[in-house]
Amino acid sequence: MGFKKDFLWGGATAANQLEGGAHEGNRGPANVDFMPLGKDRYLVGTGKMKMYDFDDQHFYPALTAVDFYHHYKEDIALFGEMGFKTYRLSIAWTRIFPNGDEKKPNEEGLKFYENIFKECHKYSIEPLVTINHFDCPMYLIKKIGGWRSREMIHYFYKLCMTLFNRYKGLVKYWITFNEINMILHFPFVAAGISFEENENETQVMITAVHHQLIASAMATRLAHEIDSNNQIGCMLAAGSYYPETCKPEDYWKAICDNREIYMFADVQARGYYHNYALKWIEERNAKIDFREGDKELLKENTVDFVSFSYYSSRVSSSDLSKGNQSESNIFASARNPYLKESEWGWAIDPLGFRSTINELYDRYQKPLFVVENGLGAKDIIEKDGSIHDEYRIDYLRQHIQAMKDAVEKDGVDLMGYTTWGCIDLISNGTGEVKKRYGFIYVDRDNLGNGTYKRIKKDSFYWYKKVIETNGINL
Ligand code: BG6
Repeated sequence: MGFKKDFLWGGATAANQLEGGAHEGNRGPANVDFMPLGKDRYLVGTGKMKMYDFDDQHFYPALTAVDFYHHYKEDIALFGEMGFKTYRLSIAWTRIFPNGDEKKPNEEGLKFYENIFKECHKYSIEPLVTINHFDCPMYLIKKIGGWRSREMIHYFYKLCMTLFNRYKGLVKYWITFNEINMILHFPFVAAGISFEENENETQVMITAVHHQLIASAMATRLAHEIDSNNQIGCMLAAGSYYPETCKPEDYWKAICDNREIYMFADVQARGYYHNYALKWIEERNAKIDFREGDKELLKENTVDFVSFSYYSSRVSSSDLSKGNQSESNIFASARNPYLKESEWGWAIDPLGFRSTINELYDRYQKPLFVVENGLGAKDIIEKDGSIHDEYRIDYLRQHIQAMKDAVEKDGVDLMGYTTWGCIDLISNGTGEVKKRYGFIYVDRDNLGNGTYKRIKKDSFYWYKKVIETNGINL
């Protein structure tokens, strides 16, 4: 028993948090480039503050990130050394279509990813590609308002057509959109949306996500048509809500909060908006702009697998006025007194991981893929250059054990596991680099200073063993 023989162990990254080289290779500007470090980041990300141009008062960490653009060979060799079976990465849309609406793709961008995929195959690493991990061409945001516009489906489809044709035989695992539910919490990042004064924000987000869901279904159909080996996944930011107490109101609140997590993945995995979602939308005076053929398209093109991120569980309270809020991945949660938290205030809950995995499997009955999990922590380099990140090993060990229990004891069908930020990168939430997730340290500080040298942490050697023994040796 244990993990399948071909279990896909690996790590995950996203273009904007990793690559840098923002002005190289004819790449065009994207929303994520304009996400500054510091307190305004949250305002920009939530669409409350428009940041459509660079200014001198802010530092923009994605422009250089950790310079994978120039280090990819070295980095993939390190992934190979750890024995990765898969590497999850995302495509920067504006490397392929710099403005988003060009007739022809940018060959330099296509070549860049082709080289990466070939490099992966050198080490028998199967690429797992997120087509859209929080990026949207800035030109399309300025011109048509990003995913507010149905026209985006056309541009996204063209991107998918280009990728599926060009990388046929090189890539077979695809994820259409990263964390589809994140649009409700970080709409500028998830869909290029900044709000105008007094507009119905829910309506804007529902319109945008409907466009993404249609685009996702069209991409799924296309991927299957172009290559029957292609496997397509949806992706959600998971981490179940517990009721704060057994007070019925708290339990009901947890049900409602959990439904907000599942609402859009439901459409991708089951092929329709559930009644509760339609009611949720109606209650907020919004509606879905269904066009002819939309419902059939969604129904007929559900995903092959369900992928998700898990960092922590959450807590629902019917009374948040008590001020018992905790930090967690962008969206709010009450504090859980039974759990320890990371340095960034994210609750650490391996059993919550097992529960979340089980809930997802109960709900969808499709193969699952854990594509993000990990601990963001500060690391210290010792005098001899070593980095002893026992805290990270502890977190991962406990979470892999929980995942193993879900497979062995609960019978969940799990395809693989990619830890988040297998090499240090820019934090999506805060823009920092000192919030490190990697097995590989990158010598760069929050303001971009450093040699960008790569250093193996203790967790590097530990994870290599885990993979070597297919999760037996934790
Ligand atoms: C997920 C995202 O929400 O969480 C990643 O898909 C992100 O892009 C990760 O980096 C961890 O969050 P943070 O804020 O610690 O970077």
